[in-house]
Amino acid sequence: MIILASDHAGFLLKEEIKKFFNKENIIAIDVGCYSREQLDDYPDFAKAGNVKVLEDSRNVGIYICGTGIGMSIVANRNPGIRAALCFNENFASLARMHNDANVLCLPGRFMSARKAIKIVKVFLTTDFEGGRHARRIKKY
Ligand code: RB5
Repeated sequence: MIILASDHAGFLLKEEIKKFFNKENIIAIDVGCYSREQLDDYPDFAKAGNVKVLEDSRNVGIYICGTGIGMSIVANRNPGIRAALCFNENFASLARMHNDANVLCLPGRFMSARKAIKIVKVFLTTDFEGGRHARRIKKY
């Protein structure tokens, strides 16, 4: 399952990603926020996303705030969450191949929907390489 989370600053980009998912018949759960007007706090949505992501090891999250930084800091406070803030497709593929990232963080205020969707596609279709990277992840 894919879990989507954003604060108000990530809301519009999250909506664009949801449109893409709807077009592709990809099912995702949106844990909020639900309006760009809210005066909300990104930690609440990162924490809500983490609860859902940790329900199943196959789950992945996509968390969006203004910069992606706040979401990634909060997300990574939960053991079991490996959140990666990615600015391009190479980061997304390496985050999966080397870090087995289970949460993709994106900067809603600094990225077009077109770019974000390219990154999401790579993140969702790239596998963890295991091997020496698995050894390293055990040391987290
Ligand atoms: C909200 O104004 C902004 O601080 C937040 O979306 C995020 O960028 C924090 O890291």
